[in-house]
Amino acid sequence: MRRVVLIDTDTASDDAVALIMALRSPLVEVAAITVVAGNVPLEQATRNALFTAELCGSKVPVFAGAAKPLQRELEPATWFHGLDGLGDCGYAPVRRIAEKTHAAEAIVACVHENPGLEVITLGPLTNLALALALDPSIVGKIGRCVVMGGAPCCEGNVTPAAEFNIWVDPEAARAVLLSGLGIELVGWQLSRWDAVVSAPEIEAILALGTPFAEFAIRCNGRAREAYLVQTAEHGISLPDPVAMSVLLQPQLVLEASKHFVEIETASALTRGMTVVDRLNNSGDSRNTKLWQPARAQMQPASVVWKLDVAGWKQLLLNSLA
Ligand code: BDR
Ligand code: CA
Repeated sequence: MRRVVLIDTDTASDDAVALIMALRSPLVEVAAITVVAGNVPLEQATRNALFTAELCGSKVPVFAGAAKPLQRELEPATWFHGLDGLGDCGYAPVRRIAEKTHAAEAIVACVHENPGLEVITLGPLTNLALALALDPSIVGKIGRCVVMGGAPCCEGNVTPAAEFNIWVDPEAARAVLLSGLGIELVGWQLSRWDAVVSAPEIEAILALGTPFAEFAIRCNGRAREAYLVQTAEHGISLPDPVAMSVLLQPQLVLEASKHFVEIETASALTRGMTVVDRLNNSGDSRNTKLWQPARAQMQPASVVWKLDVAGWKQLLLNSLA
């Protein structure tokens, strides 16, 4: 039986590849896509989600949600993904429009309709924070929650301290991390270095000759250039597809540990930092590996440290074939 999944996304170029992976996977059924402002403004992100679903021949309902972070103005990442979020290649207008329901309400409804629903967030956590505020009871009904976000114990991609999705809306991230929901945190660093899709691997993907492969590489052209400038690493780094691979194939996680993860919201210097006491320097019981259901506020997140890189790349290739 296919697992039922909800994807929350600020759809830009790497989100689009993650959507393709899920929409074409035999392992899951995507019940809904909810869209949040992040990489690009909400309307553009919604168009991009609809465009990607159309490309996959999917009629999955798409719900637009928060147009800005909970307490801040939106600071998009068009410098990285292009003005349209898809590398400014001039893709055709979409034929469908989003559903009328707000994404936060759609998340709540979808959780109640699908006990054990698996949720993955690929953008700022605004929609999920709003959904949890609307109906905190969904915490106990969500089967898994994979979050692409954070830079645990390493440098970020927006500031030295923070990764984009958490930095854009740190208040929402903090609310979600403290909600009691068991989070699987897939940080930005897992899509770096050997996880980057290299030039020969890009050629192998293009050689598949499918519209999915062509789109995945082309729409990430701008991101490829920006990533090189930012990190001096060649190739296409795909944080959201890496997180999607963890959702689809949990066995790709080679190393993870449970921690109480705090998000910095006050400091300008470290705004959006995902603070993980990996060595349990604090001796704080919140870093225990023990499950503490009675102390929901202290429920730890599973922080992923190491991924089966060959396995992730094979899954990407299969998804685009
Ligand atoms: C995250 O931010 C965006 O640029 C990507 O879509 C990904 O969700 C990586 O930091
Ligand atoms: Ca994203």
